[in-house]
Amino acid sequence: METARRTESQLTEKGYVPVYTTAIVEQPWDSYTDADHAVWAQLFERQKAILPGLASEEFIAALGAMEMTADRIPKFADLNPILHAATGWELIGVEGLLPELEFFQHLANRRFPVTWWIRREDQLDYLAEPDLFHDLFGHVPLLMNPVFADYMAAYGRGGVKAHGIGSDALVNLTRLYWYTVEFGLIQQKDGLRIYGSGIVSSKGESIHCLQSDAPNRIGFDLERIMRTRYRIDTYQKTYFVIDSFQQLMDATGPDFAPIYTKLAAMDAIPAGDVIDTDKVFHRGTGEGWLNDGDV
Ligand code: PHE
Ligand code: FE
Repeated sequence: METARRTESQLTEKGYVPVYTTAIVEQPWDSYTDADHAVWAQLFERQKAILPGLASEEFIAALGAMEMTADRIPKFADLNPILHAATGWELIGVEGLLPELEFFQHLANRRFPVTWWIRREDQLDYLAEPDLFHDLFGHVPLLMNPVFADYMAAYGRGGVKAHGIGSDALVNLTRLYWYTVEFGLIQQKDGLRIYGSGIVSSKGESIHCLQSDAPNRIGFDLERIMRTRYRIDTYQKTYFVIDSFQQLMDATGPDFAPIYTKLAAMDAIPAGDVIDTDKVFHRGTGEGWLNDGDV
């Protein structure tokens, strides 16, 4: 059966142009084709096989507890009771990226928007925007972790607040999301591990972020991160490392309003720069970096 596909966001000369849609949808599970389920199965098995030793123990534990399986695309309705019992979160189906304020309001109310459609087979390694695999495999497992679940809801409340303050505040807050929720690393007993959803949903970046000498790996520093530009079309030049999810909660607890005011007078930091206050775990060689294109 042919299913409706939304208009894809485009990477143009002017940069990435997302298509925003407000539509909340019931997951049209019966409309998934065999090819859709096969894409899920391939991606799920591929990531499950490589993530031990790369992903954080919290992620691996949560993935097991979620009861997602390779054989078919999970139903949000089956996952919701498990997730809700653990942390009070629930999944809602969406067509794609939501306008910022709506997205923040959902998070603040412990609703995580999950894109219902999955990428095509020729897009296994890279897609410019979130699809079901990124959202469900990448983001949802850690919502089972009580501390991380609280962080995401607090982020949503902070987003609503930043939206009322202005666009510079939103830029600062978006960088925090990018460098934690999407591309964060965590220090564990036996070494650095991944918790960011943009990484765990990508085979290439899962290996690159930990094993390549190219990127910087730097200790978490809230204001530093809020000033740091990032990449949307290549692997990150810099990854930031937390000690624990509790560190993330504690560091983001204070009121950000005075921080936004302070940062408004400071320059942004290019994605690949190391500054003298950084706690450097690894200084990147910069191999393969493009000079332009930080957002
Ligand atoms: N404490 C932040 C504020 O006052 C809110 C926030 C919490 C933002 C957690 C991000 C993550 O704006
Ligand atoms: Fe994401």
